[in-house]
Amino acid sequence: MSAEFITLDDLDPAQKTVLIRADFNVPVSAGIIQDDTRIRACLPTLKRLVAAPAAVILVSHLGRPREGHYDDSYTLAPVAGRVSDLMQQEVSLVRSWEDGVSVRPGELVMLENIRFIPGEKSNDDELARRLAGLCDIYVNDAFATAHRAQASTHGVAKYAPVSCAGPLLLSEIETLSTALEQPARPMAAIVGGAKVSTKLTVLTNLIKKVDQLLVGGGIANTFLKAAGCEVGTSLHEPELVGAAADILAYAEEHNKTIPLPVDAVCAKAMAEDAQAEVKSLAKVLPDDKILDIGPKTIEANDRIIRSAASIVWNGPVGVFELEQFAAGTDALARAIAASPGLSIAGGGDTLSAIARFGVADGISCISTGGGAFLELLEGQTLPAVAVLQDAARALHKA
Ligand code: 3PG
Repeated sequence: MSAEFITLDDLDPAQKTVLIRADFNVPVSAGIIQDDTRIRACLPTLKRLVAAPAAVILVSHLGRPREGHYDDSYTLAPVAGRVSDLMQQEVSLVRSWEDGVSVRPGELVMLENIRFIPGEKSNDDELARRLAGLCDIYVNDAFATAHRAQASTHGVAKYAPVSCAGPLLLSEIETLSTALEQPARPMAAIVGGAKVSTKLTVLTNLIKKVDQLLVGGGIANTFLKAAGCEVGTSLHEPELVGAAADILAYAEEHNKTIPLPVDAVCAKAMAEDAQAEVKSLAKVLPDDKILDIGPKTIEANDRIIRSAASIVWNGPVGVFELEQFAAGTDALARAIAASPGLSIAGGGDTLSAIARFGVADGISCISTGGGAFLELLEGQTLPAVAVLQDAARALHKA
């Protein structure tokens, strides 16, 4: 048994009923799945359990539907269809399971969106017990939902006969925790995106761990303002300039660096037809918007990334959705992918950038988590992980 978790290696799931909490919260538009990365990531676990053979019940949420109301736009039907295609076997979708679920070893069924059921979000004890009552083994393989203490991610783990950490959850937790707690050095983190406010805890936690912190996007503009630079009409948060200054001061006192952009791609508006102009930071005018990093900053970032032994990346450094402001994030993605160091990336925008620039193969670990990844970077304990650790401790004691 892993010291902290019960894992599938410790169990024999053959002929048992296994309830797997997966995160199949994938983008669906008009019934069509737009990106099935999260489904594919869970396939090895499904294959292993079906081959055991275990009787497999899949549980997931999709989106944020109103509880107590079935709503077609949040049905897991397209997901069940995709799992069925990928597994090459039937996956029936079970809408009502008050009287139990009929599934035999080697078969897969999927419960309809668990968030339709009142009590999922509030981590209701009775719902958690009902879910636990469906199985012999509960497997949480949903790292991306591990920051939610809900009936299917948290409560059920207290009541199932055995609660274990699935291979996908385990590999994400172990890779991310090792990278953050015992990183190979030098360690660099890149935190981009629109607002310091949404990533203030990430920034304050990461600066304690890294050797270099690169900031990008609107976040960098707030830091530039704190350093006394003109940022024109660029997205920035005046009320967080003080917090950014504190982080800069902390870095200086502790021998860490936050290299700020030295040049930028500016325009008068953020628009598809906006005229882009490369400028050194000193030349930014009061009516300019900084929309990407410039070539000198790209070069400086490249040097840092090339010499880093571990890299954590969350967030773009420019408005990469618009062609003329995409070069900074493109170069960053390529530099990270080319780096021989351990590279970890996560978060919604980051995954879009990785897909857009086609660099997935070069990144050592792409987390399936959005919010869960950020909470781990913030140094928070993820409740769905903690309850699995409790289950392992209880078993060790028994
Ligand atoms: C995610 O997409 O980050 C997870 O599936 C969690 O979804 P939620 O934010 O709706 O809980």
